[in-house]
Amino acid sequence: MSHRTTPSWLRAPDGSTPGLAFGADYNPDQWPREVWDEDVALMRAAGVTIVSLGIFSWARIQPALDEWDFEWLDESMDLLHANGISVDLATATASPPPWLAAMHPEILPVTRTGETLWPGARQHWRPTSPIFRMHALKLVTRIAERYRDHPALVAWHVSNELGCHNVYDYSDDAAHAFRVWLRARYGTIDGLNHAWGTAFWSQRYSDWEHVLPPRQAASHPNPTQQLDFKRFSSDALKEYLRVERDELRRITPDVPVTTNFMVMGGTKGMNYADWAAEVDFVSNDHYVIPGPQAIDELSFSANLTSGLAGGRPWFLMEHSTSAVNWQPVNLAKRPGELARDSLLHVAHGADAVCYFQWRQSAAGAEKYHSAMVPHAGADSEVFRSVTRLGGLLRDLAPIAGSTRAGARAAIVFDWDSWWASEQDSHPTSLLRYHREALDWYTAFLALGVRADVVPLAADLSGYELVVAPVLNVVPAALRDRLTDYVQAGGHLVTTYFSGIVDENDHAWLGGYPGALRELLGIRIEEFAPLLEGQTVRLDLDDEDAVGSLWRDRISSVESDVEVLARYAEGDLAGSPAITRRPVGEGSAAYVSTRLGPAGLQGVLAGLLAQAGVESELPDSVRGNVELTVRTTGDDEFWFLVNRTDEPIAVPGELGRVLVATSGPALPSAAEDAVPVELEPRGVVVLRRGAPASDQPN
Ligand code: GLA
Ligand code: GLA
Repeated sequence: MSHRTTPSWLRAPDGSTPGLAFGADYNPDQWPREVWDEDVALMRAAGVTIVSLGIFSWARIQPALDEWDFEWLDESMDLLHANGISVDLATATASPPPWLAAMHPEILPVTRTGETLWPGARQHWRPTSPIFRMHALKLVTRIAERYRDHPALVAWHVSNELGCHNVYDYSDDAAHAFRVWLRARYGTIDGLNHAWGTAFWSQRYSDWEHVLPPRQAASHPNPTQQLDFKRFSSDALKEYLRVERDELRRITPDVPVTTNFMVMGGTKGMNYADWAAEVDFVSNDHYVIPGPQAIDELSFSANLTSGLAGGRPWFLMEHSTSAVNWQPVNLAKRPGELARDSLLHVAHGADAVCYFQWRQSAAGAEKYHSAMVPHAGADSEVFRSVTRLGGLLRDLAPIAGSTRAGARAAIVFDWDSWWASEQDSHPTSLLRYHREALDWYTAFLALGVRADVVPLAADLSGYELVVAPVLNVVPAALRDRLTDYVQAGGHLVTTYFSGIVDENDHAWLGGYPGALRELLGIRIEEFAPLLEGQTVRLDLDDEDAVGSLWRDRISSVESDVEVLARYAEGDLAGSPAITRRPVGEGSAAYVSTRLGPAGLQGVLAGLLAQAGVESELPDSVRGNVELTVRTTGDDEFWFLVNRTDEPIAVPGELGRVLVATSGPALPSAAEDAVPVELEPRGVVVLRRGAPASDQPN
């Protein structure tokens, strides 16, 4: 059975699928016309198949209210098409021109403390401004009508990184839209008063008009108001996305619409689990954040993006060939990292590999940001690496359209819990939701066990083990869903600060972990967080089993609960730290402290063993390579990515080499069963027949 769903933006004009899409943001309007010819020549040399065009071109296209200049864009579109390069055409609404901000300063966002975000950078618009929307839509309509039949056009790129700089706007427009959103959610002012718990601190509202965004206040603003404002702010941008999308669909019903998400690190303002259904295909931007888990975080984000895309192919809209310009110190990529970083996204389902940007800018705030063609020009290691990668992507044509082969374990990721768990006025300000999820992911990688990262709403029934770290917000329906999952034989693992509040951020009463107390069979009367730098040993035979950040005072456990570890020191010495309750064929486990990636490894190994989930990798490479699997139904493709800085021998029996990043000892695809020497940070893609029966979900 074929699982291939080849995206339309992958097809060449003749209908063939030449390989994976490859390209960049392209900003020809930053360059004199003569450079464009060199651009397309170099694009062809590098194997570029697609560019995202016009993202920041509003001021060039519409230099004044009633002036339009499309000639340069016509010429660029034609030139690209003549060179066989497809266009993901931007609606160009990302950065309003100076004349619009001057004419209508009421489009400018306002911060929590009441400061205006002035023009001079980009994205200086309120997501809820009716005036901005009117002007932006006029531009969208013009562009869509002009290029609707252009043969280079294969996709629409709505705005750019919606919410990157303007997700939280506290302006009067936002206040108005927030009230409309709240009325739709709660119906009556009493409904809002109940949900927000306004009996507290004399916050009871008698009129909708008195309700505000959580602007800078004298003390902690109402937590449910804060949580709802996060939900509203994500929804406001989603609504804006829909407005542009609907206009594009009206004019070009057959051209797919996307917008570039920012599933990466700490970018938490946009609930992409909720946005994913709004686009025709999911796109993501990712930049590596240096640190000990840098490559794991890339993998985690790519994996979650695949989860958002329902396992179908997605589009890597931006990443970098080398350094960025917006970190405190911007590191150049080391040898091998350019290809590895790109291919790891492909491993997790990206069928397009694109960069910010094609040619490194000579002027402007991003002139020190790497690109496919650096300041040094085409005679550079970056451009040579880019060109080699273009070749590898062509050779990967057989995987185009293949989907992710589901793992047996999953980590669930939930924006509501992310938002709620990190609010102010909590037991600790040091808790980081994303870090805890990533730590579990690193533990999976270290054990060589694949885990899908999926949004909370995903169907969990196919997974034998599900980790739901810091699942802080558990409404009754979610509690029932998780209980059903466990009763049907699933193994659920959750952690500290889970099950604590309902959808209104009201505490479940009777003891923690609230909504999950019964399922887990434990009762906690008090949290016992740790100060920064303070640690606590567990009584496990594992020197990494050291807790930090949090402890729970677990005061009682049901008789059928196994205590897997106890605290070994401090005032909780002897009391349970990690528990597991068998429930039918399944189980529900609880980890009450932060163990970090190393400390989680042993704990996770035990939980996986009890759930019967094993690594698919041989001992010799387990933990040193990351395995991901894509499938067409007929063929399985194993991506093995070297997570280390050492060469690794991959046993030949694992499959036939489809492509590999360079390595002197690399055998050709024809030579079966020869070990592959995987260079440091190298990648090899193996082709295997799909297993007949035991293919996991
Ligand atoms: C974001 C933006 C791009 C560019 C890059 C730089 O992803 O979408 O326009 O600014 O960051 O890393
Ligand atoms: C002060 C206030 C109380 C309460 C406590 C919390 O004492 O008067 O209302 O906020 O702080 O510590």
